[in-house]
Amino acid sequence: MGGPTPARRGSSFGLTFATMSVTILAIESSCDETSASVCRDGRILTNYIASQAIHEQYGGVVPELASRAHMQHIVPVVDIALRNAGVTVSDLDAVAVTQAPGLIGSLLVGGSFAKSMALALGKPLIAVHHMQAHVIANMIADPAPSFPFLCLTVSGGHTQIVICKSPLEMEVLGETLDDAAGEAFDKSAKLLGLPYPGGPLIDKNAANGDPTRFSFPEPQIPGLDFSFSGLKTSILYFLQHGRAQDPEFAAKNMNDICASIQDRIVTILLHKLGRAAKETGIKEICIAGGVSANRGLRDALVALGKKRGWNTYIPKFEYCTDNAAMIAMTAWYKYQQGAFADLSMSPSARAEWA
Ligand SMILES: Nc1ncnc2c1ncn2[C@@H]1O[C@H](COP(=O)(O)OP(=O)(O)OP(=O)(O)O)[C@@H](O)[C@H]1O
Ligand SMILES: [Mg+2]
Repeated sequence: MGGPTPARRGSSFGLTFATMSVTILAIESSCDETSASVCRDGRILTNYIASQAIHEQYGGVVPELASRAHMQHIVPVVDIALRNAGVTVSDLDAVAVTQAPGLIGSLLVGGSFAKSMALALGKPLIAVHHMQAHVIANMIADPAPSFPFLCLTVSGGHTQIVICKSPLEMEVLGETLDDAAGEAFDKSAKLLGLPYPGGPLIDKNAANGDPTRFSFPEPQIPGLDFSFSGLKTSILYFLQHGRAQDPEFAAKNMNDICASIQDRIVTILLHKLGRAAKETGIKEICIAGGVSANRGLRDALVALGKKRGWNTYIPKFEYCTDNAAMIAMTAWYKYQQGAFADLSMSPSARAEWA
């Protein structure tokens, strides 16, 4: 591929501007997925993801193993993404990477790789906030939500209701005080004896279960915040009680238990989302993050949206869990604002909301 294509008219944030075609390579390595994506002018050309199966045997992500696996994967993953997109490094206009939050060893692998590449190519580096990118995953779709929109971000480490006023202008309206929704799924699955990550397995079993068979409590948390630790404790006691009557209690009732747990997690999430929509008057409603892949949540959101007159948006499955396409899309907005990072940028396990 050659150099930059001729100038064209584009628009962003409601402004019209003249721009060259812009190609960005984005890298995501915040947890246990090594991913690279190429986007051109806000269009995703490729999104390649290498997952790390090694953690299954430990029942959760082992940080040291995750960073080692990233080191093994990063070169081939970037190479495959570039080839799939039909571009070479000389076509790139910027290199983007997840800066925070995440596992520090994992972030360092992607961060060091991206910085080296930006330095070697003499191209700008773009640092992206992982949670902001989960929200922006909704902007990959066509039609995309219009601003302002609300996003319920439900992932392995976060549960947040975010108001997104423009691509890079976001505010957290409420968040979990303890466990994330993804943890609620994974820890419930562990109590049921299911392997890690248990969220997708609860989803699968729930499809054949009766959600009204068992009842779990809804926490009474003020405002738009969430809590899932009480639910986890109630599931623990529920299973202890059931197993005391019959050691095979969980196995015999697996589908109904999964459906009932999923139903409670989904109602907790949607009650708060409904409240946020009512308080803000916003009817453009999105979900994002790994748990937004959950069939029960997706169906319930669409049903609630129809009832309340919302326009609902749900990312494609590949853009729900960790992926570099959402990093690339966020980087595209940052590129247009000239929001570049210094090469001395360091990844951070925790980060203030960008
Ligand atoms: N179909 C599903 N149903 C329920 N949970 C799911 C489903 N698919 C994935 N998950 C959950 O999503 C979580 C992973 O999501 P994601 O990759 O966005 O999290 P993370 O990147 O580890 O955390 P964060 O984005 O907060 O740093 C896991 O807890 C997993 O169990
Ligand atoms: Mg994530």
